[in-house]
Parts: sequence; C-alpha cells; structure tokens
Amino acid sequence: MRTALKNNFKKMTRIGAGGFGTVTAAALACVVTMSPSVHAADPNGSGAAGAEAQFDQALVASIAAGGRLYDNWMRELADRKPGEMHVLYPPEGEKAGVPDETWRCVTCHGWDYKGVDGAFESGPDYTGIKGITRVRGMKPDDITPLFTDEKHDFGNRLDKQSIADLSNFLAYGMTPVDMFIDPVTRRVKIEPVSASPHFSTICVNCHGADGRMMATIPPLGDVARADPWQSMHKMLNGHPGDAMPALRAFDMITTLGTLSFIQSLPSRDQLFAIARGGKLYDNWIDELDIPEPKDVHPAFPKKDSVREGSNTWRCVECHGWDYKGAHGIKGIDSKSGAHPAAIMKILSDDTHALGTYLKYEDLYDLASFVSFGQIEMREYIDPQTNKARGNAENSERYYLTLCATCHGEDGRAIRTMPPVGRVANERPQQALHKVLHGHPGDAMPAWQASMPPLIIKDMLAKLQTLPQRK
Ligand code: HEC
Ligand code: HEC
Ligand code: HEC
Ligand code: HEC
Repeated sequence: MRTALKNNFKKMTRIGAGGFGTVTAAALACVVTMSPSVHAADPNGSGAAGAEAQFDQALVASIAAGGRLYDNWMRELADRKPGEMHVLYPPEGEKAGVPDETWRCVTCHGWDYKGVDGAFESGPDYTGIKGITRVRGMKPDDITPLFTDEKHDFGNRLDKQSIADLSNFLAYGMTPVDMFIDPVTRRVKIEPVSASPHFSTICVNCHGADGRMMATIPPLGDVARADPWQSMHKMLNGHPGDAMPALRAFDMITTLGTLSFIQSLPSRDQLFAIARGGKLYDNWIDELDIPEPKDVHPAFPKKDSVREGSNTWRCVECHGWDYKGAHGIKGIDSKSGAHPAAIMKILSDDTHALGTYLKYEDLYDLASFVSFGQIEMREYIDPQTNKARGNAENSERYYLTLCATCHGEDGRAIRTMPPVGRVANERPQQALHKVLHGHPGDAMPAWQASMPPLIIKDMLAKLQTLPQRK
C-alpha cells in the first residue's frame, strides 16, 4: 500500500507541475488515484481486502486528524493555550498580540501550505516564513524531526499520536492547491456547479441552506471566495474540536464541486446589515434580547453620572445620537466610509470590551452601520432651533400610510412610549436615528433604504407638528 501511495503521489505531482487552465477529467481521475482514501485508488481492486483495507481507513482518519491539528492543535486537543509568543513568529507580525495564534501551524505556513510563496505573501497574514510543500511525499518518519526540533518546540507539547497524525498529514494530506484553485481569481478550476449533494445534505445542518446560519463566522460564501484554501482544508479535514465532518474519504471531484458551489453562496445582505447595525448602535442589549451587563462600562467617564434608566454599554451613550460624541468621548463620524473590517477591529479592542457579548454577525452589522449608515444630521435638523429642515405638509400621506397604522394619526397610539410629537421636538436626533433604522427589539421598520433624504426631512417636520402631550 505504501508503495502504491507513493507512486500515485508521483503521478499527481507530475500533473501538478504541468499547470492547467481548467482541471480536466483525466487530471481528476489521477488525483482520485492519488488519494490514499479511495478504494478505487487501487488499480486492481485487490487492496480493499483484509488488513490492507483497514490500514487504509486508519491512515485516512490519521491524515484528517493531522489536518485539524495543523489548523489548531490547541482546539483539537482541548489543550492549554501557550501564554507566550512562538519563538519563530516575527515580533512585528499582525498576530503578535495574540500569543496562542502564533502557535498554529497554519499561522506560519498557510492554508495553501506555501507560506510566503502563497496567499500569505502580503497582507495581515504575512510572516515571511517559508512553505512546507517540499516535504509532501516524504516518509512521515523523516518529516517528524522537522517540526519537533528545538525551535518549533512541538516535541514536548504534542503526544505521540498527534505527532504521527501531523506527519501523515504532511506526507499524504496536503492538497496541491494550485492544481485546483486559481491563485489569482481564487476560483475553483472546474465548470461552476449549481447543486451540491454534499453541501445540501451535510453542511446545511450547521451552516444553513445559504451558508449564513452561523452567527459566529462570516457567510460561508464570503469565506470560500476570499480564502478557498481554508475552505478546502476544513472540508477535507473537519473543524478542530468540533463535530464538523471530514470529507477526505470522498473523491476529489465531489469535493471540488462542493467548494465551487459554496463559492456561489450569497454574502450578508448589506441593507439589512446596515439597518440592523443602526438598531444595535441604539441598543444592542434590547435588540439581542440579552440580560444587561450589571457594571458600568469601563470606558465610561468616572466623573460623569449615569442617567437613570440608561445603560453605559449602549454605543449611543458614548458616541451620541448625532454620531459626534458624548461625555467628552469622540464621535464615530470620522469613520464613515472606513472599511468595515477596520471598524470591526476597533469594536474588538479592549476599550470596547464587547468580546463576550457580540458575535461576528453583530460586529459586522455594527461596522456596516458605522461605515455606510451614518448621515450628517445637521443637514436634516437645524442645530440652533432643533427644527427639521423639511415641509410637514409634503409628508402627510407618507405618515398616514406608513406610520399611523402603529402610531395612530396623532402619534399617541403606542402607550409604552412618549407621544411621537414630543420625542421629535425634544430629541429630534434620536427620533431621526430611529426613523432611519427602526426601534431595537421591536417591529418598527427601518426607513433609510426606502425613503430619499428629502422625504425623511419632510417626515421629521411632520412628526414635529404632532401633539406633544399624552
Ligand atoms: C511561529 C511560526 C511557525 C509555526 C507555528 C510552525 N512553524 Fe514550521 N517552520 C517555521 C519556520 C521559520 C521554518 C523554517 C525553519 C528553517 O528553515 O530552519 C519552518 C519549517 C517547517 C518545516 C520544514 C519545511 C522544509 O521545507 O524543510 C516543516 C515540515 C514544518 N515547519 C512543519 C510545521 C508544523 C507541522 C507546525 C505545527 C505543528 C509548524 N511547522 C508550526 C515556522 C513555524
Ligand atoms: C456539525 C456541524 C457542522 C457541519 C455538518 C459542518 N460544519 Fe463547517 N463549521 C462548523 C463549526 C462549529 C465551525 C467553526 C465555527 C467557529 O469557528 O465559530 C465551522 C467552520 C467552517 C468553516 C470555516 C469558516 C471560518 O471562517 O472560520 C468552513 C469553511 C466550513 N465550516 C465549511 C463546511 C463545509 C463545506 C461543510 C460541509 C461539507 C461543513 N462546514 C459542515 C460546524 C459544522
Ligand atoms: C463607554 C463608552 C463607549 C461605548 C459604550 C462605546 N464606545 Fe466606541 N469608543 C469609546 C472611546 C473612549 C473611543 C476612543 C478610543 C481611542 O481613541 O482609543 C471609542 C472609539 C470608537 C470608534 C473609533 C472612532 C475614531 O474616530 O477613531 C468607533 C468606530 C466606535 N468607538 C464605535 C463604537 C460602537 C459601534 C459602539 C457600540 C457597540 C461603541 N463604540 C461603544 C467609548 C465607547
Ligand atoms: C409596525 C409598527 C410601526 C410602524 C409601521 C412604525 N413604527 Fe415607529 N415605533 C414602533 C414601536 C413599537 C416603537 C417603540 C415603542 C416603545 O418604545 O415602546 C416605535 C418607535 C418610534 C420612534 C421612537 C420614539 C422614541 O422613544 O425614541 C419614532 C420617532 C417613530 N417610531 C417614528 C415612526 C415613523 C416616522 C414611522 C413611519 C415612517 C414609524 N415610526 C412606523 C412601531 C412602528
């Protein structure tokens, strides 16, 4: 079996060196042959018998386990995270501030196994460290010393089995990615597929039919388009420490089809994200319907008194209804138009301390609001008089058809809130934000995307004419 494997392996690498446009059926057939997992791999079909077949199964499982360890051995082994940075990690690297991240093989060698010669050649993942593709096809025993050496320091940290799994993965499990994924367009080199049995019956259980069900990670479509190598690696080996299945036992054609299908799945709906982000900005505790943090937010100025009934964890408490800052804290207006990823980074910092409360999805929506949802409120409201810069009569029909169903013709129908007229006059910026983005935790719609600014101004003027007393 070992020799068969090696031969198949040689065949595969020879093809890999050729470089194709689209992966051909012949090439795929050879790759299927290379996979130690597939019984079709054995040309005469005899290898499936007895002990050899068993060895085969165990090897596939070991390779997949090695792949998960490569991804994140701390998570896979539920092991204690090292508190200090890995000695081989460059101190100026992006992940230097998160010591345990620097201990993942993938952090230094990449999802495409090519290190600095692959997708990690620049950007936040850059380390300058070389890839490990050279060891592909070597004897596992000859690979072991390369990462259990003094510098890598995995000899003492990983048990025997894990070291064997990793060595098996490096010898037999690293996909020659350039053969299957175009390094420039990042698309799978097959004709796009419109259906995937694997996705629709396996992945769907946890990731949802459109790949957007898990709030802790980006939509799968986005992940697979931005980093197909990661998706390929996770599909073949599973997710460390989780129940996600490893597809290594299936053939490569199916896996590529699944990946191609995932690359066609939708992103998060941007208008929805902005509107939800606006509600979270207003009051994420109500919007998420979670218990409020008991303590005062650590960044809230000590000298300032906390308003009764308010919560210092709301973005709006520190950054204001007009986004220009409150309590001496700066506004968020200068971040309008900034890249959402940069804003997510700010929200994940120690000042904001939101880590335990908000998931990826929430941070993404907040960032979408900060980047794309802010308006200059002075264009809508005269800051001297607090009057809306619009004409109330123009929006009569809008108010009656869109708002009165809930708020009543005079704005006093909802008993749990002050009359709309009072809010619009006393706190017009607050009223404007809520008209644009809706009310957290309630069914009130967000109007920003469906009403042009002119109508919003007229609407606000109309609200200011409504009765202010209960
Ligand atoms: C903090 C960065 C870092 C991490 C984490 C890391 N490596 Fe490395 N690795 C390196 C560097 C740097 C080299 C090159 C060393 C040299 O050239 O002497 C290397 C070399 C290797 C090589 C030899 C490649 C060759 O062509 O000779 C293998 C194999 C390897 N690493 C496997 C692993 C495995 C498996 C893990 C995880 C268990 C891992 N590495 C984790 C930095 C890292
Ligand atoms: C039993 C549940 C389960 C199934 C089934 C499952 N996954 Fe996952 N998947 C997870 C979990 C859990 C994570 C990690 C989430 C996290 O990091 O918070 C994950 C993460 C991922 C990621 C990484 C996303 C990222 O940015 O971290 C990819 C890619 C992925 N899965 C693809 C797939 C594919 C493709 C399938 C089907 C072949 C699949 N998953 C089936 C549970 C599952
Ligand atoms: C208790 C007060 C407080 C709360 C609540 C708060 N922030 Fe901040 N925020 C700050 C402080 C203080 C800074 C400035 C930090 C610095 O400059 O290092 C800041 C900075 C920012 C910035 C960068 C502004 C710039 O121009 O650099 C953004 C964007 C931001 N916050 C968004 C939010 C969002 C969204 C929320 C709600 C999830 C939020 N903040 C909640 C105190 C707060
Ligand atoms: C589906 C019902 C519904 C519709 C339609 C609706 N709202 Fe609301 N609105 C609510 C609810 C519920 C609240 C929050 C009530 C509370 O605080 O208890 C609210 C709150 C508000 C507030 C915030 C008041 C405050 O306390 O800050 C304003 C202003 C407002 N609505 C204006 C409008 C305008 C203008 C329209 C039409 C363009 C509209 N609403 C359409 C249900 C609705």
